[in-house]
Amino acid sequence: MKVFVTGATGFIGRNLCLALKAKGYGVTAVGSKDADLTRSGTLDRFSTVKYDRIFHLASWTQAGDFCLYHPGEQWIINQQINTNVLSWWANQQPQAKMVSMGTSCTYEVGSNLKEEDYLAGTPIADLYVYAMTKRMLHIGQQALAKQFGLKYLTLVPSTVYGPNYSVGKKQMHFIFDLAYKILNHKHKGSEILLWGDGYQTRELVHIDDFIHIMFELDQKVENEVVNIGAGAEFSIRHFAETLAKGVGVDPAHIQYDTSRYVGAKSKCLNVEKLHRILPDLKLKSLEEGLSQTVQWLEKECFLTQA
Ligand SMILES: NC(=O)c1ccc[n+]([C@@H]2O[C@H](COP(=O)([O-])OP(=O)(O)OC[C@H]3O[C@@H](n4cnc5c(N)ncnc54)[C@H](OP(=O)(O)O)[C@@H]3O)[C@@H](O)[C@H]2O)c1
Repeated sequence: MKVFVTGATGFIGRNLCLALKAKGYGVTAVGSKDADLTRSGTLDRFSTVKYDRIFHLASWTQAGDFCLYHPGEQWIINQQINTNVLSWWANQQPQAKMVSMGTSCTYEVGSNLKEEDYLAGTPIADLYVYAMTKRMLHIGQQALAKQFGLKYLTLVPSTVYGPNYSVGKKQMHFIFDLAYKILNHKHKGSEILLWGDGYQTRELVHIDDFIHIMFELDQKVENEVVNIGAGAEFSIRHFAETLAKGVGVDPAHIQYDTSRYVGAKSKCLNVEKLHRILPDLKLKSLEEGLSQTVQWLEKECFLTQA
């Protein structure tokens, strides 16, 4: 199997490429330095190979409050990236199935977060532009499937966590931010100040589970959207206290800054469709996943420094 991966230098892309190579697939992995996807024609030099799959992971965004301050750039850059990738797919790689990444931010707050509503209602205002570029990507795939018979799969994960995260380059997803602050307290005595009151709830899916599900769905589903989540959410306080206890930090040291941005109060994907397609699916336990992630982060950022 010949596979082309955009966003290969990102968190999910790095882990995906390792898993694809472990399967013995021929992998062409590109980050922005290999091919700036905002530039038309940037993928032409990859056209001589005919790929079986295009995993389209590249997007221009960050976690935290990044989307609040970059809506204009996000619209232009992500639309350019997606249009160039879709155009290359349709014109040069129509035999390939495209597996792309959506976002749970597209669902209207208060909706039941079911796939049939992926394009319905109004996404949360703070993430509106990012969410709409993901909807546009999905609509582009639908349009190309309808007109040219191309095959695609849109995956919508909750927050993905695990080893090989890009620490320090960008605003981090909440679970890495929590783990980093707790480890920084353990090793350097810094205060642990978390955003919000800690009662907002979130759902996590481990990167190993995500990639396993991605491969399974790729075999079984085409031209659909599928949510990928754990089906249960927990408060930020629960995550923070579990992480703190796991590394021997007293949770009493955790403080909350209620003036900071927290996004949606709750976000838990409906995963009925996922379990209908994969009825025997078993996920890593949260305790095991958090423990593995925090150990990786401690080794990466605090134990290997000179
Ligand atoms: N992580 C999550 O929890 C999560 C949840 C839901 C959806 N997603 C989606 O899953 C995908 C991967 O997420 P991630 O967390 O792995 O993202 P990430 O770590 O931020 O990586 C983003 C990737 O996009 C590439 N990229 C950005 N601008 C580019 C450009 N102009 N040209 C070419 N490549 C460009 C980056 O390349 P450089 O490294 O060279 O900059 C990097 O490889 C994204 O589409 C994201 O929206 C992620």
